[in-house]
Order: sequence, then C-alpha cells, then structure tokens
Amino acid sequence: MTDTAQILPTTLEQNPQNPQNTSKKPLLGVNVDHVATLRQARGVSYPSPLAAALLCEKAGADGITIHLREDRRHIQDADVYEMAGQLTTRMNLEMAATTEMLDIACQVKPYWVCLVPEKRAELTTEGGLDVAGQLASLTDYVSQLQAAGIKVSLFIDPEDKQIEAAVNCSADAIELHTGSYAEAGLAGNTDRVNVELERIKNAVVTAKRVDSKLLVNAGHGLTRDNVHAIAQINGIYELNIGHALIADALFVGIEQAVIMMKTAMHR
Ligand code: PXP
Repeated sequence: MTDTAQILPTTLEQNPQNPQNTSKKPLLGVNVDHVATLRQARGVSYPSPLAAALLCEKAGADGITIHLREDRRHIQDADVYEMAGQLTTRMNLEMAATTEMLDIACQVKPYWVCLVPEKRAELTTEGGLDVAGQLASLTDYVSQLQAAGIKVSLFIDPEDKQIEAAVNCSADAIELHTGSYAEAGLAGNTDRVNVELERIKNAVVTAKRVDSKLLVNAGHGLTRDNVHAIAQINGIYELNIGHALIADALFVGIEQAVIMMKTAMHR
C-alpha cells in the first residue's frame, strides 16, 4: 500500500466509531489542546481548535482528542460543545473523574471519555490513573458515563494491576501511558527505551489475555521519531498524539503534520 493510500480517511467499513474495525493498523487520534494553548496565551478568539480539528479530520485523523482541564488552561467549555456538533469522526474527551466533568460529559455525550488523573501544577498528565486504588468509586463513575451512552477509556501506566483493575471497572478501553518510553528516548537512553517498549508490549498482551474485547490505545510523548515502534505493536487500536504533531504543524501546516504522523506510524 502506498503512503497516500494509508493516509486516506477511513472507509465506512473501517469507521473508527465501529468497534468492529478490524484494521491491524492503529488509528490516529489528534489532540488539539495546544491550538487552544496558543489562543489562551493571548486571550483572543484565534487560533480555533475546532478549525484545526476539522483540518486534521480532512487530512485523515481518525478522531479528535481534547482535554477539558479543571483549570481550563487550554480547552474551554465552549470548545467542547462547539466541537461536539461539528466533528465528523469522533470526539475523545479527556477529563478528571469529577462531578463537574461528569455533568458536562453527560450533556455533550462525546463518543469516548478518557479518564485521566489531574494535578493543578503539572505541565501535562504526568502519570496514569490509579484505577486499582479507587476501584469502587471509578466503577461507579464509569457506569454512569456508560449509562449515558459514552464509551470509557482509562489512561493507565502499563502495569498488570492497573490493567486488571480497568477490566474490573468494565472500562471499554485503556490508554497506555507511553511517557516513560518517550522520555527515555529524549534522554538518549537506548537500554531504557527497550525496557519501556517491552513493558508496553507486555501490557498489550496482558490486556488481551484478561479481556479480549478491551480496546488498547496508547499515547503521550509520541513523535514521528518514536511512534513507529509503538504503532507496530499488535493489538493497539489507536494512538493519541498532540504536542509533537502540533509542533510539526507550526512548520508544515496541520494537514501535512497529520499526513506525516500517519506515514511515520505506518511506514
Ligand atoms: N493521552 C493522554 C491521556 C494525554 O493526557 C495526553 C496529553 O494531553 C496525550 C495522550 C497526548 O500527549 P502528547 O501531547 O504528549 O502527544
């Protein structure tokens, strides 16, 4: 298959909204938070995360991720509502498991909610959610989202106990935190990269063994340089990528950045 064919939007049969999608290649979810970061830096109305998201979809993104943080540092409530009505793929709404966010999600009804831990002072989501440590409350929270017709993913570190807990919570998907893998690469520590890659591979195997229907996504810190090894792991459904792709977009435009990321994933 040519690169061009690989970046074409998914066909109806491969519609990412359809969990029957059996494509062996992971889908690409683009996180457009940093378009909002730029807008908020000036407190003006541009650049528009919605316009960016629509261009990403046009270029072949399979989904759009936005993180509505408690501190509203980038994505605002209005972005969530506006995007919900206009995305042509599906929205993955990242949020903390709070009452406020539950209310918003139940109104907006994104296709996916991805529950993440949130600390006010962090630069980005630093670690995975401790699902095992709050099993009862998260099980209840997940079931409330699912009752509203929303599929739920849990952002976790690639650890067996967290995977097992996610399955016990009846989550529809997990997203494996690839931050340690990415950081090892940035530090030039090849041994550590290999160790972290093995952890992620083993986590995918564990997830499929514990629950063959659980979708396994991955993300955080992925770039055109480090994404291929992750995209090659059998059983990964979708990669969620933001920072590096938006950084590429500054130089090549956002559509080209999506095409380049898909090419790097599937080369
Ligand atoms: N997945 C989750 C759950 C995240 O919180 C983030 C960062 O917002 C990402 C993926 C994307 O990470 P990055 O911006 O480093 O590509």
